[in-house]
Amino acid sequence: MSLAEEILAIYAARGAGAYFGERVSMTEHALQSAYFAQQAGASESLVVAALLHDIGHLLAQVPDDLADWTADAHHEASGARWLAQRFPAAICEPVRLHVAAKRYLCATDAQYFAKLSSASVHTLELQGGPLSAYEVAQFEAERYFTDAVRVRRWDDAGKVAGLKTPQLAEYLGLIARSAQLAG
Ligand SMILES: [Fe+2]
Repeated sequence: MSLAEEILAIYAARGAGAYFGERVSMTEHALQSAYFAQQAGASESLVVAALLHDIGHLLAQVPDDLADWTADAHHEASGARWLAQRFPAAICEPVRLHVAAKRYLCATDAQYFAKLSSASVHTLELQGGPLSAYEVAQFEAERYFTDAVRVRRWDDAGKVAGLKTPQLAEYLGLIARSAQLAG
């Protein structure tokens, strides 16, 4: 099975499930995040990062109902580990950092928290709340910190019920090209 086929199979198996507490499926959320990245003129690597940023959720068994979700599954870490075996750092690092980016934005952007969805506020507590001043400085020292913040904003935007986007199959060439960069 090629990598593109492997990713298609993962989304086919679990992507139709609801994206925790939101009005879109996991696959729709991924496609919308990638769509907003493309609209912003992001690099191919960053579009793939946006597309696959939540793949950790699909690899792990997590509850379908947000109310049952009482511990943080660290999907960003499991997803980044999986991606690191297949893609370059420019893709897996923003994914690894996308939850920290949310905690970073909550600490540094007063308007950001006000715009978070209620599901995202719920998980923020499980994820450790806003970063401390020390953690903010550590986060800003990460090589891919600005890319992680961009992915985070597309992640937050990608929760629009009924938004039309390109389908996953249209990203397979991009996925294959991006994976080759890791070789
Ligand atoms: Fe997400």
